Amino acid sequence: MVAYGRRLFSDPALSSGDRISCATCHDPRRAFQDGRPVAEGRGVGVRNTPTLLDVADRRWFGWDGGHDSLWAASLAPLLDPNEMASRVDEMAARVRGQPARRRAHEAAFGVTLPEDDLSLVVQLAKALAAYQASLRSPRTAFDRFRDALVRGDRASAARYPLAAQRGLRLFIGEARCSVCHAGPAFTNDEFADIGVPFFVAGGADAGRHGGLSRLLASPMNRLGAFNDAGESADPRALLTRHLKIEPRHFGEFRVPGLRQLARTAPYMHDGSMATLEEVVRHYDRLDEERLHADGERILRRLNLQAEQAADLAAFLRTLSK
Ligand code: HEC
Ligand code: HEC
Repeated sequence: MVAYGRRLFSDPALSSGDRISCATCHDPRRAFQDGRPVAEGRGVGVRNTPTLLDVADRRWFGWDGGHDSLWAASLAPLLDPNEMASRVDEMAARVRGQPARRRAHEAAFGVTLPEDDLSLVVQLAKALAAYQASLRSPRTAFDRFRDALVRGDRASAARYPLAAQRGLRLFIGEARCSVCHAGPAFTNDEFADIGVPFFVAGGADAGRHGGLSRLLASPMNRLGAFNDAGESADPRALLTRHLKIEPRHFGEFRVPGLRQLARTAPYMHDGSMATLEEVVRHYDRLDEERLHADGERILRRLNLQAEQAADLAAFLRTLSK
């Protein structure tokens, strides 16, 4: 299944006109993103392409949390007119009509092709998800430091640069970054407004508010018929069932993980910050007036010394290989 998904991931035949594949934007040589501020194409054009490393650990998918499973987040770009712009009947006809494709698909799933086209295309998305779930970020200088501390191995721990150690102390202390960027991937899998402007050409990016509306209306969410586990046997379906749209979700975006940061510039949902120094400066000079009441309680202007800002950036760099 993983091997089949890997082949589909770089297969332009899944796009209308054989133009692009998933790998065009999620380039395996660039930590599965594209290095552009925002992806090419109109509708997605306002959002930055996220890395897919460790994506299997996420709870919600997309900057706006518009999907609650990896396979649904993989189905969307296939059908989105601004991305691969395929049609369900065309994609299904290709698998049915080409003996090699048909055999590969049946071998991966161990059953003959389903009769209806949508089920077949959902299977394509599930194979793509199986492959993406195998994408793991490499170990980093930070991981070696943390493991050395756990082992009580002071000699190894001392190899971690001092600037990064000071930056780490700020990150989990005074600067309060780890309130949101917590856990092994440095995200709490929640959403927040940190004051990145959400006005875009022709309107505003509603962020989580729009993502929730789409998720709850989608027949492809975990409450729908395409969830193999079935809603009652899937503990994560309960999270989806309990979602409520509230006004505060307007302009909130997913807290991104911070692994492999050095390879995934530019930053933020709109790719508006080119360097890690710029990100640190954003938090340092935060416009508190601009923040939602909720975010404000955690976030405040840091007013760091130049050396502290450099330490924080040095720490962030050690989260990448
Ligand atoms: C035109 C560029 C482009 C193409 C082609 C593309 N993506 Fe994406 N992908 C994006 C962008 C931009 C986002 C962020 C979308 C958002 O938040 O609204 C994204 C988000 C995702 C996410 C969510 C990741 C996360 O961390 O939440 C997954 C999974 C994903 N894409 C998988 C795929 C798969 C599988 C394909 C091929 C079927 C694909 N993408 C094709 C640009 C692209
Ligand atoms: C209230 C929760 C919260 C806190 C606290 C927080 N962040 Fe963030 N962080 C976010 C959100 C949400 C985004 C994405 C915002 C967007 O795209 O509009 C983000 C984005 C980032 C990014 C860009 C990652 C990428 O891949 O684009 C970096 C780097 C980052 N934060 C570092 C930090 C640092 C350093 C601190 C402490 C000074 C910090 N964050 C504090 C929520 C938070």
